[in-house]
Amino acid sequence: MRKDRQNWSPGVLPVLVPPGLSGAPEAADTVVGMNLRAAAVRRKPVADLIAESEHGTLKRSLTLGQLTTLSIGATLGSGIFVVLGEAVPVAGPAVVLSFVLAGVTALFSALSYAELAGMIPLSGSSYSYTYATLGELVAWVCGWCLVLEYGVSVASVAVGWGQYVNELLRLTLGVAIPDALSQPPGSGGIVNVPAIVVVLLAMVLLLSGAKESARVNTIMVVIKIGTLVLFCAIAFTAVRAANFTPFLPLGLAGLSAGGAKLFFSYIGFDAASTAGEEAKNPQRDLPRAILLSLAIVTVLYCLVAVAAVGALPWQQFDGKEAALSHVLGAVSGNPLWAALLAVGAIVAISSVVLTVLYGQTRILFSMSRDGLVPASLSKVDPKTGSPRINTLVVSGFVATLAAFIPLGKLADATSIGTLFAFGLVNVAVLLLRRRQPEAPRSFRVPFSPVTPILGVLCCGYMMLSLDGATWVVFGGWMALGLLIYFAYGMRRSRLART
Ligand code: ALA
Repeated sequence: MRKDRQNWSPGVLPVLVPPGLSGAPEAADTVVGMNLRAAAVRRKPVADLIAESEHGTLKRSLTLGQLTTLSIGATLGSGIFVVLGEAVPVAGPAVVLSFVLAGVTALFSALSYAELAGMIPLSGSSYSYTYATLGELVAWVCGWCLVLEYGVSVASVAVGWGQYVNELLRLTLGVAIPDALSQPPGSGGIVNVPAIVVVLLAMVLLLSGAKESARVNTIMVVIKIGTLVLFCAIAFTAVRAANFTPFLPLGLAGLSAGGAKLFFSYIGFDAASTAGEEAKNPQRDLPRAILLSLAIVTVLYCLVAVAAVGALPWQQFDGKEAALSHVLGAVSGNPLWAALLAVGAIVAISSVVLTVLYGQTRILFSMSRDGLVPASLSKVDPKTGSPRINTLVVSGFVATLAAFIPLGKLADATSIGTLFAFGLVNVAVLLLRRRQPEAPRSFRVPFSPVTPILGVLCCGYMMLSLDGATWVVFGGWMALGLLIYFAYGMRRSRLART
C-alpha cells in the first residue's frame, strides 16, 4: 500500500503534505485537492482485510446450513408475497419471464459475490470488497448504497408485513387495523404501527446474539418455503392455459419494467456475505451459501409466478394487496387457505426483517471499524457477542422509515441502490483478477471477464428501467452520502491516520 504523508488535526480538512511542498502557502488549493484525491483512492490491502477477518471480535458460530438460510431468510419475503401483485399489472402473464430476467441479473452478481466472499470473508460485504479495489470514496458510496439495500429495504419489507397482518385479521376476525394506524402518510394513514412492531421484535432477537437469531431464522425459513409450496399445490389445480394469452399484453417494455420491480425479490441473496466474521468456515461456505440460496429462491419464484398468473387472470391483480392470499381465496373459495397463507407470509416477512436488519448492522459494524462512521457502532457486547448500540441505532432508523413511508417508494429506492452496489461488486472482481491473479480464491466466477461484464451491463440496464422519481431519490441519497463522507468519514478514516 502507498502511504500518503499527511498531518491530521480534528476539525479541519486533513492536509496532505506531498514531498517538497511542506510549508508552501501558495499551494493550499492544490494541497486540498490532492488531499481529496488521496482520500478517494486510498485502498485497504486484501491481506489486511483477511487478517482483520481472522482476528474479529464477533463470534464464529454459523454453519453452511445457517448461512444458506440466512440468505434465503433475507431474500424470500415481500417481493414474492407483495411486490408480485404490483408487477403483474405491469407485465401481464409475462411476469414469469420478468422473474427470470431479474434472476439472471442477480445470478451474474451472485457469482461475483461468491468469488469475493470466499476471498475476503469480512462482515462488510460489497463495502469491504470495494474498499480493497476501488478505494475509500467508492467504498463509502457502496456502503451508503447498502444502507438502501439493507436499511431501507427492511423498512419496505416491514410495510408489507402490515398488509398481511391486516389480511389475516380480516379473514379470521372480520376486522382490520384502521388505516390511520396501519398505513403511512401518503397511503391514507398516519403511522404504520405493525411495521414498527415487527422491527422491534427483530431487534430484541438480534440483541440476544447471532446464533440465537440464526436458529429462529431457520425455523421461519422452513415455514415460508412450506407456505409457498402449499400455494403452488393449490393454485396449480386452478391453472388455465387461457390465462397465459396474450402472454405479453404490455409488450417487452412491460416485461422489463416488471423485471426491474421484481429485482427487489432477489435482494438479500448476498446476506451471507455480511456474516463473514461469524461463519465457522467462511472461505468454503460463503460462496456455497450465496449460490445455493439463489438457486432455491429462483425455482420457487418461477413456480409461484406460473401458478399465480395461471390460476387468476392477470387483470384481477390490479390494486390488490396481499396478492398471494387473494389468489388462494379466489381460486379455492375457502378463506381458510387464504388465512393460512397470510400466516406463512407473516412468518416469511418476519424472517426477512430479522436477517436484513442483521446484515445492515454488520455492514455498519465494518464501516465503523474503518472509522467512516462513529466507533460506538463497532462495540460488541461481551455477553451476547452482538453489536448493541449499532443494533439499537439501525432498528430505530428502520422503524421510523417503515412507520412513515409507503412500500412502493421504498422498494424502488432499494432496488436502484442495490443494483449500483451489485455493479460495483462485478467491477471489483474484474479489478482483483487483474491486480492479484494469483491470490487464493475458494470460488472463481466462470468465464470471467465475460460474466462480470454482463453483470455490470444487466445492473445498468435494470437501473435504467426504473422511473425518474426513483432516480431523483437516488441522486439525493448519493448527494447526502457524499456530504457525510467529506464532513466526517474522510477525516476520521482509520486509513487516513495510519
Ligand atoms: N428480497 C426481499 C424481499 O423480497 C427484500 O422481501
